[in-house]
Amino acid sequence: MNNKYELIYEGKAKKVFSHNDLDKVIIEFKDDATAFNALKKAKFEGKGKLNCLISARIFKLLIKNNIPTHFLELKNENTMIAKKIEVIPLEIVLRNTAYGSLCKQTTIKSGTDLARPLIDIYLKNDELNDPLITKDRIELMNILSSKDLDLIIDLTLKINGILKSFFKNIQLKLVDFKLEFGYDLKKNIILGDEISPDNCRFWDLNQKNDTILSLDKDRFRNDLGGLIEAYSEIYRRINNFL
Ligand code: TMP
Repeated sequence: MNNKYELIYEGKAKKVFSHNDLDKVIIEFKDDATAFNALKKAKFEGKGKLNCLISARIFKLLIKNNIPTHFLELKNENTMIAKKIEVIPLEIVLRNTAYGSLCKQTTIKSGTDLARPLIDIYLKNDELNDPLITKDRIELMNILSSKDLDLIIDLTLKINGILKSFFKNIQLKLVDFKLEFGYDLKKNIILGDEISPDNCRFWDLNQKNDTILSLDKDRFRNDLGGLIEAYSEIYRRINNFL
C-alpha cells in the first residue's frame, strides 16, 4: 500500500488505512489465515483477493436489500474503500445448523438443522479468547444499550434471510457465520468487517449421501487442504449468479 496512507489498525486478516476523506478508510485483505485465536497460522496466496472480491459482491447484495453496510467500492482486487466506523467489540454468530463450537460446548449433534436460527454473541477480545457473553454482561460493560443490541440482532436475522436464500440458489448451505457491526460518524449502526469463507461456513449442496464438503476456512482449521480451490469455487458460483 502506498505510504501516503497511514496504517490505522492491523488485524489477523486485514489492514485498515486512513483515506483522504476523513469519513472513509481503505481496507486491505491479507493472505494470512489464523485459527484458534492465532494458535494456528498460515499464508495462502490469493486468499486476500478472493475474500475481498467475495465480500464486495455480498455487501452489494445486502445494500440492495436495504441493509446498511460500511462497503463503498472496490479500490482494487484486494482492497476496498469503506465508511469509517467505531467497531462494536462483539462478534455476532448466527447458526442455522449445529457445528463447530456449538457441538463442542453442548450435547447437540453435529449437523442438526436448527428449528430457528441461534444467535451466539462473543466478546471481541483476543486476550480473553473471545468468550461467549450474555445480554446482561453486555449492558453491564456498557458496550451497547439493550435497544441497540436488539437492533443488531434484528439486522443479523434479516441478513441471514437474504444470505441463506442467495447461497441456496448457488447450491451452498449457509451453516453459520460471524458478523461485526459498528457506529458510523452519524452514530448509525452499520455492518462492518467482511463476509467471506473466512467467517462463514458453506457446505456444498451438490454432495450426495449427506457427505459434508466444506468450502470455507474449515479446510484450514481441520487440515483438509484445498483452501484456495474452495474459495475460488465460492467466488465462481457467486459470479455466475450475480
Ligand atoms: P464456531 O463454531 O467456531 O463458534 O464458529 C461459528 C462461525 O463463526 C463460523 O462460521 C466461523 C466464524 N468465526 C469467525 O469468523 N471468527 C472466529 O474467531 C470464530 C471462533 C468463528
